[in-house]
Amino acid sequence: MEKLKKRVLYPREIIAGRVKDLADEISHDLEGKEVVLVGVLKGAFIILADLTRCMKIPYVVDFVRLASYGSGSVSSGTITLSKDIETDIEGKEVVIVEDVVDTGITLAFLKERLEKKKPHSIRICTLIDKKQRRQISIDADYVGFDLDEGFVVGYGLDFDERFRCLPDIYVIEE
Ligand code: IMP
Ligand code: MG
Repeated sequence: MEKLKKRVLYPREIIAGRVKDLADEISHDLEGKEVVLVGVLKGAFIILADLTRCMKIPYVVDFVRLASYGSGSVSSGTITLSKDIETDIEGKEVVIVEDVVDTGITLAFLKERLEKKKPHSIRICTLIDKKQRRQISIDADYVGFDLDEGFVVGYGLDFDERFRCLPDIYVIEE
């Protein structure tokens, strides 16, 4: 297995602070509403776990499994959905929890599918937003970190299934 050079970009304490802020914002905006947090597997499993434990309002958790990357760090542009939500979201406030929004293709696909289930609203929360790289216009409502360039791993994010469970976020060095 190739040895990749990487350096810490966001240490765990900084991530924890941002995730708590996101949970505070979501809790504030959706107080008194019926909230469903939809985690996008696999990448969002760690942020979702931490976010949920900082929420101050009731909510239900569900998951979808989507992939836009075949392997490595080059987007294939084709989306596959291998697991749909099981919760009835009609009339409810949905918050999609994603690891990275890059081209936006994955989220646009997911949002369109969830809209067919007639929720009252769909918001997007992402740990990392790579706004500069969008191919489809889609905005996240809650953003942990804005990232202009680089491929990041750790805290749920992988490179070919590697590095997902590192507690800090690293950027891969060329
Ligand atoms: P999009 O459809 O191009 O927006 O792809 C978003 C998906 O690509 C994310 O859910 C991630 O799984 C993956 N991705 C994009 N950039 C990175 C990165 O820097 N590290 C790890 N995964 C990434
Ligand atoms: Mg993802």
